[in-house]
Amino acid sequence: MELQERLEDLKNSTQAKLAKMRGDNAKELQELRVQVLGKKGSLTELLQGLKELSAEARPIVGKQVNEVRDVLTKAFEEQAKIIEAAKIQAQLESESLDVTLPGRQIKLGSRHILSQISEEIEDIFLGMGYQIVDGLEVEEDYYNFERMNLPKDHPARDMQDTFYISQDILLRTHTSPVQARTLDSHDFSEGPLKMISPGRVFRRDTDDATHSHQFHQIEGLVVGEQISMGDLKGTLELISQKMFGQDRRIRLRPSYFPFTEPSVEVDVSCFKCGGEGCNVCKKTGWIEILGAGMVHPSVLEMSGVDAEKYSGFAFGLGQERIAMLRYGINDIRDFYQGDIRFIQQFK
Ligand code: PHE
Repeated sequence: MELQERLEDLKNSTQAKLAKMRGDNAKELQELRVQVLGKKGSLTELLQGLKELSAEARPIVGKQVNEVRDVLTKAFEEQAKIIEAAKIQAQLESESLDVTLPGRQIKLGSRHILSQISEEIEDIFLGMGYQIVDGLEVEEDYYNFERMNLPKDHPARDMQDTFYISQDILLRTHTSPVQARTLDSHDFSEGPLKMISPGRVFRRDTDDATHSHQFHQIEGLVVGEQISMGDLKGTLELISQKMFGQDRRIRLRPSYFPFTEPSVEVDVSCFKCGGEGCNVCKKTGWIEILGAGMVHPSVLEMSGVDAEKYSGFAFGLGQERIAMLRYGINDIRDFYQGDIRFIQQFK
């Protein structure tokens, strides 16, 4: 029967074409599929011929058509699988993945050296029963200057020009305003006030190797009954030794701050040469590390603290200066530039 032969033919020729097909030709496969099994394809065309067959022959040939369709559908699926596998194989070969290579290390960050210095000093003072107080970077002229005994036209304001938000609001020039704020709220019936306050301060300065328009200080304040200059000296000696080595001595030189009386500059004996004189201490054997003094009675009185009964000391140290001395850093700008090579040295 002619139709049956043609069916057989179609099956054989399609199978032969599939067998010859290269493993990487998805497009060719799709085209052949449409040609053979598509709506207007060869099989559909042969199906039309069923109409001309006799009633007895029709189901037999019809069954054969279905069989051929099933066989070919499967054959196309098989070929599609082969093509997919070939594609994956080609991908694997082109992407060279070497699982024996060492993994990429995740880089760990570290605390900034200024944070480390601050925490180190905080730890020392916490151990002596001090509290740590947060101040305000945007401060009132009133606390930054007036309450620190620097009224509006005081000449010492010139050394601490700053950035003004308005006439009365500014970026603080030192951490000292925290003194006034803490004194205001301290209840002396509960004991003396002992606090430190680390933080950022600002000044109108031209940035160079040793000046920056913003830097970091740590303020210290102790107020109570019978607090003397001896307490100040002992405290500063201890902190100097903890920061720069057990053998350090300190020396106090007279100085001036409007909010302390008497005021001193504090030098520490050189940690590099031990006092002989070298490049770190500029051949003097001493290095200036901070300003300090006995809290001016007016500062106490402005907080409503009885200056006859209570006295105290205060100090302010520069965090950058401590770090620069300790690690031989000679440009203050290195602290703020975020250069990973600088930061990584202090892990
Ligand atoms: N506030 C002073 C400054 O910034 C430092 C200081 C603090 C001096 C406390 C004495 C007492 O220069």
